[in-house]
Amino acid sequence: PLVTTKEMFKKAYEGHYAIGAFNVNNMEIVQGITEAAKELNAPLILQCSAGARKYAKHQYLVHLVQAAIEDTGLPIALHLDHGADFETCKSCIDGGFTSVMFDGSHYSFKENIEKTKEVVEYAHAHGVVVEAELGQLAGIEDDVKVAAHEAHYTDPNEVEEFVKETGVDSLAIAIGTSHGAYKFTPDQCTRNEQGILVPPPLRFDILEEVAKRLPNFPIVLHGASSVPQDFVKIINENGGHMPDAVGVPEDQLRKAASMAVCKINIDSDLRLAMTAGIRKHFNDHPDHFDPRQYVADGRTNIKAIVSHKIKEVLGCDGKA
Ligand code: G3H
Ligand code: 13P
Ligand code: ZN
Repeated sequence: PLVTTKEMFKKAYEGHYAIGAFNVNNMEIVQGITEAAKELNAPLILQCSAGARKYAKHQYLVHLVQAAIEDTGLPIALHLDHGADFETCKSCIDGGFTSVMFDGSHYSFKENIEKTKEVVEYAHAHGVVVEAELGQLAGIEDDVKVAAHEAHYTDPNEVEEFVKETGVDSLAIAIGTSHGAYKFTPDQCTRNEQGILVPPPLRFDILEEVAKRLPNFPIVLHGASSVPQDFVKIINENGGHMPDAVGVPEDQLRKAASMAVCKINIDSDLRLAMTAGIRKHFNDHPDHFDPRQYVADGRTNIKAIVSHKIKEVLGCDGKA
């Protein structure tokens, strides 16, 4: 059934695991994710960004997710990722989503509270849950040194007031993750013997402090792709160019999932999976021109990476 994240998060919090929130943009992405979850009996959050709604159209996404629910019988929440304003959130609440994120992280604390609260009131009146964000994820485009982006981390002193004032159902925090396939600059990292970049550790001290201030409250991690180096290698060996792509190490995500983090957002890893599959297919079969042949290889890779995440990182297999 189509569900909210309420029950999922309660069980995940108590069971020390996390739910994967995977971004969906087309049919093969939905199929790859949900086929993996079905095999492993895992609860799922499928999320759509404003960009996804622009690319695929709202109705197509809603119906694809409904088809996946019919096909798998799994509890699936349909979530708006990074809602920029009340109108976008409202359109998803009215249009069948069960969860929305209002991302007011770039506003002042006070404005973030006011705007989040407005969304929460409308959402709750319609049986929909809300995720909000405090602190700002470091982005590679920020081009700031480690000390300077200290200011972007979530301030644990703010979380109680924020949650109490807004009535929000979950909270995304900034502890050192970032969006995209280039999460850390080479100068922020060390290199291992194979020359692979090793990123700086996440700020578990902040996560612990937030969890202490918000007992039994679900925390969300954005920018949590691990940027699998096997996919990066396949891409680079088949005509791609993604030097120094780097993500969050899986052991750190596993640790976060065992703590208060109940939702882990993954988009970039799906993009890499799809791209690696398609690039290799084109290289191996220069004569192919049937999209079903090459897109299927992307879908197969998505299923494989989602299976891996569910079993080895999130720990939500068998929890549906
Ligand atoms: O957080 C951003 C997600 O990866 C969605 O990206 O806005 O390009 O769809 P997008
Ligand atoms: P990644 O870019 O790490 O996959 O993060 C996705 C995300 O946070 C979507 O909201
Ligand atoms: Zn995000």
